[in-house]
Amino acid sequence: MAFLECRGVTKRFGALEAIRNFSFVLRPGEILGLIGPNGSGKTTLFNLITGLYTPDAGEILFKEKSIVHIPPHEICRLGIAKTSQITMPFGTMSVYENILVAALYGQNLGMAQAHVAAERILAVVGLHERRDEPAGKIPAPLRRRLELGRVLATGAEVLLLDEVMAGLTPAEIEQALMLLKLLSTQATIIMVEHVMQAVMGISDRVLVIHHGEKIAEGTPIEVAGKPEVIEAYLGKRYT
Ligand SMILES: Nc1ncnc2c1ncn2[C@@H]1O[C@H](COP(=O)(O)OP(=O)(O)OP(=O)(O)O)[C@@H](O)[C@H]1O
Ligand SMILES: [Mg+2]
Repeated sequence: MAFLECRGVTKRFGALEAIRNFSFVLRPGEILGLIGPNGSGKTTLFNLITGLYTPDAGEILFKEKSIVHIPPHEICRLGIAKTSQITMPFGTMSVYENILVAALYGQNLGMAQAHVAAERILAVVGLHERRDEPAGKIPAPLRRRLELGRVLATGAEVLLLDEVMAGLTPAEIEQALMLLKLLSTQATIIMVEHVMQAVMGISDRVLVIHHGEKIAEGTPIEVAGKPEVIEAYLGKRYT
């Protein structure tokens, strides 16, 4: 069954076709990896799905209804939320308040319920000890975890994660993977990631994008063995 679907989506910036006739289906409960070289269109695809950009052609369907032309905050309420490649917390607000705001506005909860949700998520993402610190002041790896907490707090059914492991140490990547496994029991995930052992290890399926086009799709093993993927992105066989 298609949960989220893109059909022939194209997005142009002037003469540049950043996304070209792109189609894929997201199945409920899966982790779908999205990989490709820098500038291949991964973030643009996320921005199209979350309504920040409008496609020039094609259709984006969530639960079989078009979400093209629906504003981003409504798409979030429908159940699709994304993290930002560049973390953008409300810097002067505390870690806890950042999560609370996401619960309040993303899920449209009352204040008491939002506090309950925020407390639970703070524990899930392991930021309990940092709860009162200004979000702009915590170290970058923790800001990435806060991003995960914020999307989770929206109550979204689909999480679009844009390079949540960028800049993490191997030990931090292991922690992040455990957290993602936990999140995947609560939501369907599309994960953009350059950390290959992470995305290949955790994804049920992988899409490969190059110059805005889908060049491969399949299980991590299938995709990693394709010559066009090795040529365009991996550089060598991934084992
Ligand atoms: N708002 C914009 N205006 C003009 N061009 C843009 C805009 N956003 C992205 N682009 C261009 O579209 C192409 C795809 O960019 P995008 O950010 O989606 O790539 P990406 O796959 O996320 O790359 P990275 O791995 O570096 O994050 C690039 O050529 C980029 O310069
Ligand atoms: Mg990007």
